[in-house]
Amino acid sequence: MIVGVYDSGVGGLSVLKELYALMPSVDYLYVADAGNCPYGNKSPEFIIDRARKIVSFLIEKGAEAVVVACNTATAAAVSHLREEFSIPIVGMEPAVKPAVQASRTGVIGVLATANTFKGSLYRHTSEKYAHDTRIIEKVGDGLVEAVEKGLVPNALIARYVSDILSSGADVIVLGCTHYPFLQREIEHFAGPGVIVINPAPAVALQTRRVISNTEGNGSMHFYTTGSMMILKKMAKSINHFLNDGNFTKIEL
Ligand code: DGL
Repeated sequence: MIVGVYDSGVGGLSVLKELYALMPSVDYLYVADAGNCPYGNKSPEFIIDRARKIVSFLIEKGAEAVVVACNTATAAAVSHLREEFSIPIVGMEPAVKPAVQASRTGVIGVLATANTFKGSLYRHTSEKYAHDTRIIEKVGDGLVEAVEKGLVPNALIARYVSDILSSGADVIVLGCTHYPFLQREIEHFAGPGVIVINPAPAVALQTRRVISNTEGNGSMHFYTTGSMMILKKMAKSINHFLNDGNFTKIEL
């Protein structure tokens, strides 16, 4: 079984990590569209066009299912991809439902890109599951760019967390796949009474439900349209067996 995974950059590695933990013998292909990162402020048309090109590329390379490991790309493109391609396409779920269930104060915070909040998927999910719970929507401007540079933007994190918590929230949803790489700092600024939810494990479980088997050699191959350095560094931290032969620069 070959599963393709993609993101605007290294964020989707937080999803790949969970996929690999759950299904270590699947063969994985990962595309980082780093040459076009961030997606958070691009037009939906642009993100849909990139999605089509990347998914076609992954299928050419043998992918039998694709995980759109990017909330922003899921918001803009997942329904188009499902119309166009016949293989299973798994998207990111804004984890509003578990957040609502976990909240005792009746206020939750969602940290995501501006484009994720504009998508109909997020709107529908929040309308369906929020009920009486208030959702504080916080755009994490600058966080994706920092993660792509391997930086931890403490001042920004402190500001966003405090904006969310000042409204009484006791749960924070990481609504962008780059943010789990800042989870420790987000939890640090939030303090012990606040639950931080990373949707990636649930997405890995959903992937296992939709693929026909989980057999393979447990290989990983990484492609990027941009800088290789940070991708290599972060990918090697989730799989220590990787070497330079597992990485290829592409133009799409
Ligand atoms: N990892 C992407 C997401 O989940 C980042 C989007 C971006 O490139 O701005 O939203």
